[in-house]
Amino acid sequence: MKVVIIGANGFIGHTLTAHILATTGWSVTAIDRNDDRLRPLFGHQRLDFAHMDIRNSHPRIERLVAAADVVLPLAAYARPADYVRDPLAIFELDFEENLHIVRAAERHGTRIVFPSTSEVYGMCPDAAFNEDRSPLVLGPIAKERWIYSCSKQLLDRVIWAMGGRGLRFTLFRPFNWFGPGLDDIADAAPGSARVVTQFMGHLLRGEPLQLVDGGHQRRAFTYIDDGIAALMRILVNENGAADGRIFNIGNPANDRSIRDLATLMIDVIAGFPGYADLAETATIVETPGSTYYGSAYQDVDHRQPDIAAATRWLDWAPQVGLREGLRHMANHYIKRTVPAKLFDEAVP
Ligand code: UGA
Repeated sequence: MKVVIIGANGFIGHTLTAHILATTGWSVTAIDRNDDRLRPLFGHQRLDFAHMDIRNSHPRIERLVAAADVVLPLAAYARPADYVRDPLAIFELDFEENLHIVRAAERHGTRIVFPSTSEVYGMCPDAAFNEDRSPLVLGPIAKERWIYSCSKQLLDRVIWAMGGRGLRFTLFRPFNWFGPGLDDIADAAPGSARVVTQFMGHLLRGEPLQLVDGGHQRRAFTYIDDGIAALMRILVNENGAADGRIFNIGNPANDRSIRDLATLMIDVIAGFPGYADLAETATIVETPGSTYYGSAYQDVDHRQPDIAAATRWLDWAPQVGLREGLRHMANHYIKRTVPAKLFDEAVP
């Protein structure tokens, strides 16, 4: 199978590329404007890396999509701080550029596996969000946080409608996937990383963890290996089980408040030899969302996935508990990133 991954240097992209090369005989064309995370894979005989900015490479992208069996357009801004800082960049990249790719897939009859997002449910009141039944609830226009959700939702709807006229597609909705390589933790700026990596950076530098609006908001954190396992089942697509369907890919058992996440992360760090002191002196402070993100921010109070569809059609269930996943992730950042960038002393 020939797989084209656009935005392959990102968190999901580089992990998926490595997994495909290691576990299948498929070939991968990896497209990105950066290559730092993919570089260890360079030289693999089934990997082609195409260095390009998708914003000015439409004809080339079109040719690559035409030649593929399946395309995954993963290039998108996906940090809430970006949604409120530069909402039009979200519209232009996450919506407009991806629309080009979706249209190319339809023109050439290429199957598309598209990353929707847990964010499409917005402030949905349901206890668990369901792909077929839950309403998608967004805030007012001035709350620019929702431009990401709205862009993704419209693409979901476009792809779904194109499915009605023959496009082969699957939409998957990651629920707070985390793991090694999620974000660069060296940046201390508020919102420079998703919450798990943001906290990791603060913890390792001895800075306070900031709980936005008290940290009562809940997320179901999903370890990347579980996400990749679901994606592989979608790509294999046994008996066409993934065709024309939407899947929440999340771990309901890892549903925690952000406050609980903070204390758990401190506990996890304390378990690493040489880090008990850092954990003992860690502090947690509270900060209003309007200060942390600005007035265009609005939060999601709870976000629990209903994963019955993925269980039924993909025969998939998440395996990795939150503490175990955080330990893997902390190990990655402590061993690889921290010594070089943040600390003088060697990490055990
Ligand atoms: C994320 C992002 O939009 C995307 O990565 C993705 O599409 C989706 O949700 C997902 O991964 O499922 P969100 O969960 O709000 O949105 O993003 P985080 O930045 O990880 O924030 C989670 C929660 O932690 C928010 O309530 C935020 O206010 C809070 N937070 C964040 C803090 O309390 N302190 C911080 O330092 C950072």
